[in-house]
Amino acid sequence: MSHQHPADAPNASSFGTLTTGNGNPVPSNQTSQTAGPLGPVLIQDYHLIEKLAHFDRERIPERVVHAKGAGAHGYFEVTNDISHLTCAKFLNKVGKRTPVFTRFSTVGGELGSADTARDPRGFAVKFYTEEGNWDMVGNNTPVFFIRDPIKFPDFIHTQKRHPQTHLPNMDMFWDFLSLVPESIHQVTILMSDRGIPDGFRHMNGYSGHTLALVAADGSYKYVKWHFITKQGIKCIHAKEAAVLAGTDPNYATRDLFDSIEKGDYPSWDVSIQVVEQDQAEKLGNALFDITKVLPHKEFPLIPVGRMTLNRNPENYFAEVEQSAFSPSFMVPGIAPSPDRMLQGRLFSYPDTHRHRLGTNFQQIPINAPLSGVNNHQRDGFMAINGNGGSKPNYEPNSLGGPYQTNNVTTTVPNGLTLSGNSGVYPFVLSDADFKQPAALYNIFTEDEKDRLASNIADGLSGAKLYIQKRQLAIFYRVDKDYGLRVERELRKRGSNI
Ligand code: HEM
Repeated sequence: MSHQHPADAPNASSFGTLTTGNGNPVPSNQTSQTAGPLGPVLIQDYHLIEKLAHFDRERIPERVVHAKGAGAHGYFEVTNDISHLTCAKFLNKVGKRTPVFTRFSTVGGELGSADTARDPRGFAVKFYTEEGNWDMVGNNTPVFFIRDPIKFPDFIHTQKRHPQTHLPNMDMFWDFLSLVPESIHQVTILMSDRGIPDGFRHMNGYSGHTLALVAADGSYKYVKWHFITKQGIKCIHAKEAAVLAGTDPNYATRDLFDSIEKGDYPSWDVSIQVVEQDQAEKLGNALFDITKVLPHKEFPLIPVGRMTLNRNPENYFAEVEQSAFSPSFMVPGIAPSPDRMLQGRLFSYPDTHRHRLGTNFQQIPINAPLSGVNNHQRDGFMAINGNGGSKPNYEPNSLGGPYQTNNVTTTVPNGLTLSGNSGVYPFVLSDADFKQPAALYNIFTEDEKDRLASNIADGLSGAKLYIQKRQLAIFYRVDKDYGLRVERELRKRGSNI
């Protein structure tokens, strides 16, 4: 049976003739071919077979973390000259613009989970520079729960579903956190008002890790990146978030899309904290410990530029779902620090992309650098960019390259002095790990402290008593008042603590 443009539909479209994936015109898309009016479907109906077979393969693995998210295109504009700190070309001139694609996300929930969960928010920005892509893969919080990558899979397991019940489980969640007290800084942020941002536009983004900026002569300085929202910080209280999780689970996704659609473009001031060599020596390992921030008094924000998001994706799957960010995607002039977590992430992201999207994930248009790719990698599933054509696929060759730049200094800054033998050197928990959480707790108003304690008790009261006791001792170690408030809230919820 034929299918014509419906008479009441808005416009007779210009999308043209329906085709198979092979480009062949499709005669019938509403009725399958059958052996006579009453007979079974025919296998010769190629369009039907292709349509079902493609549908059967529509889902790809979702991200193991940060599965639920939304993204938008935009640009980054340099507002302040920091070319004395870095030779990164996209930063070399005030007024210079670089296209970006940004993806925001929650962390623990699955692809269909609610946007208003109490969870850190991912804040990942891909800068399409003239020297390939730089990805800033941060969060809306400046710190993290753990400081060694070897703990990450275990930590994430405790945020996901219980192996037997397939339900979120407060014992797992608090058991782990109470046994990893360095998590307390991030736990305090997560359980505070900032734990549920009002959409993706009203939150900051942070690299969290210390990275390095490298000048043309190979000298480098350690920096942390900050993206400060121009929309102002706005958060949602727990009760409202719970209601929204039921009535509008895509709240943040919708808010981002709608605001860009109506021309209300969100933007962020981008700045850095710069660490001088003598300060780096004083900070020691704290500089490479993502459970800690750099105090703003000592390390003021230095402006770099502004990021504006002004274009929605045309197709969610192509651009948002297939986007692949990695802290290891760096340009000359930006380099990693020895932060252990960062070092673990440098491996983990491209590894997961090869699993999630395939070995040629960098050829997918949203991930492909605008500046082009020129190397000796060939073949693999879905090699769609011409596969290097007839150019040489080996080096050294006598055919004219492509050649390495030999500019090692700007990507691998030398100067980090190492000592000692390789081995296992754990971070040792100390009073210093509780100072920043205490300082944070003490800037909260009375109301904010009450809400913090209440949010904690809502979850912690669901854990076993011995876990509650262990975690409560951590709140007391931060600040007596913090411990007292959480204890009071736990009792209110019937705990025998
Ligand atoms: C996503 C691993 C810590 C921010 C991911 C993904 C993995 C991962 C496997 C999924 C990526 C994908 O499928 O495309 C790890 C490991 C960590 C770690 C092993 C610690 C060793 C962190 C930290 C931050 C962070 C500390 C923030 C400072 C993000 C963001 C995404 C993400 C923003 C989502 C990127 C996107 O929008 O596609 N992480 N992560 N992660 N991670 Fe991490």
